[in-house]
Amino acid sequence: MPDTVAPNLVAAVSEARHWQRLMEMGAIGGFTDADGNEGVNRACLTELDRQARRLLISWAGQAGLAVTIDALGNLFLRHEGTVPGLAPVVTGSHMDSQPQGGRFDGIWGVLAAFEAVQALRDAGVSTRRPIEVVAWTNEEGGRYAPGCMGSMAYAGYAPPTTWDAVTDKDGIRFGDALREHLAAEADLTRRPLGVVEGSAPFAYVEAHIEQGPRLEAEGLDIGVVTGIQGSRWFLVEISGKSDHAGTTPLGLRQDAVQDMLRAITALNALMRDPTDVLRFTVAHIEVEPNTSNSVASKARFTIDFRHPDNAVLQARGNAIAGVIQSALATCTATVTERFHAIPTDFAPLVPDAVEAAARAQGLRAIRMPSGAFHDAQFIHPLCPTGMIFVPCRAGISHHPAEYAEPAALAAGTRVLAQVLADLANREEAI
Ligand code: GLV
Ligand code: MN
Ligand code: MN
Repeated sequence: MPDTVAPNLVAAVSEARHWQRLMEMGAIGGFTDADGNEGVNRACLTELDRQARRLLISWAGQAGLAVTIDALGNLFLRHEGTVPGLAPVVTGSHMDSQPQGGRFDGIWGVLAAFEAVQALRDAGVSTRRPIEVVAWTNEEGGRYAPGCMGSMAYAGYAPPTTWDAVTDKDGIRFGDALREHLAAEADLTRRPLGVVEGSAPFAYVEAHIEQGPRLEAEGLDIGVVTGIQGSRWFLVEISGKSDHAGTTPLGLRQDAVQDMLRAITALNALMRDPTDVLRFTVAHIEVEPNTSNSVASKARFTIDFRHPDNAVLQARGNAIAGVIQSALATCTATVTERFHAIPTDFAPLVPDAVEAAARAQGLRAIRMPSGAFHDAQFIHPLCPTGMIFVPCRAGISHHPAEYAEPAALAAGTRVLAQVLADLANREEAI
């Protein structure tokens, strides 16, 4: 395990260039909210997404990296290694944002990877293995649910057509949006989707803001991510009957909103956790016909349920549908599971390399799990995988107030550069 710093490599990471690029990206889909926070709304497979990708591709061209995309629109920028035929080290994250998102979630991991590779090249540090910077399609799941479609398809977790019929809020199908997107990028070289002929990555490293308060609160520079908790997403649709609000006696109603409240109350009881480890969120509530003087015929809501212990994730997740059915007084319900990511424990290779690089650079690092899900969760079965967290202000993310200091991001990028140099020069995954 190398425990020395490559001084020329570390010096070649430019905090100013990196920050400038991040701010340029943040302007694509950027907005200022009522409190003056500068957020980003850059949904996947939109014109804004394409604009951001084109900007990255132009920088990749200037840096001499080869650009390819696959059938899910996953974008790869390749730095060649010196030994032909070796499996690449892959590093990156995503470029899409939440609708009310920030300037750092996802895009920082892509730009940190790009800056790290550029630093390697500028410093003349050659690597035996190639390094591929990746931007996965639709990690957020904000426009099309679920998230992580690009990495799931790449990893063979689900066939690439799985989500074709999923629609966005305007009724546009994912399959159609993807077709339009691929047509707009038809000038880019296509690569086969996923791992072909044993070409699994040698390792995968994803840099990300922490999205939680711990690193900042404890005065730490780097989170050495040891694993990711499990997540399950459900879509619930409650069907009743629409009636006049002024004339229909309560006893004769099939009010979908009232049964939704019963269902959510019962779910809160199912998800009670005195240890406060479990995460349970109901959101995206839609009601039809949604006028104040009509009884609701439909109520839809989403469930995001997370836990680090797979036994709990399975037991309580599997109980959700039954608990909802038992809670209904007059309506019927369908419960559809849309996302199922089991808890992940990373193999030691990448976390050890991250910890060694952080310590060699004199940074304060701690091992920690991730509460958010990430593409790394789906790449983990393919190869040794890990993540680098940096502190973000007050742990806020998925919000325009999301912020990370330029120096903190540069520190994470320097660690990533050293980790890439280390892993891409290894012969075996030891
Ligand atoms: C990722 O965006 C998550 O919701 O954890
Ligand atoms: Mn993210
Ligand atoms: Mn996110």
